[in-house]
Amino acid sequence: MKVIVTDNFEASCRIAAEQIASVIRSKPDARLGLATGSTAQGVYPYLVAANRAGELDFSRVSTINLDEYVGLAPDHPQSYRRFMDEHLFDRINIDKANTIVAKGTGDIEANVKSFREALAAKPIDVQLLGIGVDGHVGFNEPGEVLYDGAHVEELDESTIDANARFFATRSEVPTKAISMGMGDILRAKKLILLATGESKAAAMRGLLLNEELDVQNPATLVKTHPDATVIIDCALAEKIGYQE
Ligand code: F6R
Repeated sequence: MKVIVTDNFEASCRIAAEQIASVIRSKPDARLGLATGSTAQGVYPYLVAANRAGELDFSRVSTINLDEYVGLAPDHPQSYRRFMDEHLFDRINIDKANTIVAKGTGDIEANVKSFREALAAKPIDVQLLGIGVDGHVGFNEPGEVLYDGAHVEELDESTIDANARFFATRSEVPTKAISMGMGDILRAKKLILLATGESKAAAMRGLLLNEELDVQNPATLVKTHPDATVIIDCALAEKIGYQE
């Protein structure tokens, strides 16, 4: 696992975007695995800017997202489909028919099945990851077991608390999500995990400061990936006592 410590979150996002751009340049029909949330949100403006400057072409790129809330329609303001449209897809020259976000309404079992089929159809060339305060990646929450494939996950109370900032009240936050499994994530050819902020310190200690693989901190499984890059800013590195 490669670890990059940057001066600040902006620099982390720029480096993550450069790495994604370099995958696209070497493989113009790359499949990107994408994430939502405030960490991933920092990366997308760099991809949009490169596209608008004519330096990065998304016309043959396809994407698949880590997760979607159960119960939110694609046009709901807090759905992950809407997040992706607003922050990336509507701003670049991608064919939206080539962008997959699991559907969180209707027949959920059928939606999980078609999400699984979509995952099996083409390998992910690079997967962008944030990390939850409890160590979740995608929405693979800590627990007795972790799952290989896509499934419906019950969100932890700490995840609901963290995501409540995006909703008018905590009770509006969905309690379940469709998520790629840990296996799906680890099958991506390249992983880029980005983290910032004190709230991620405990989970990041588990990822960076020991050799344990811990089902209570799913992000620790990223250690097993042959091409994983973790990008943190120096404030977080200092907070957890990580030294290069
Ligand atoms: C989002 C996702 C989550 C987030 C994580 C961190 O698609 O899969 O794992 O990456 O919850 O969220 P932020 O970046 O908002 O702290």
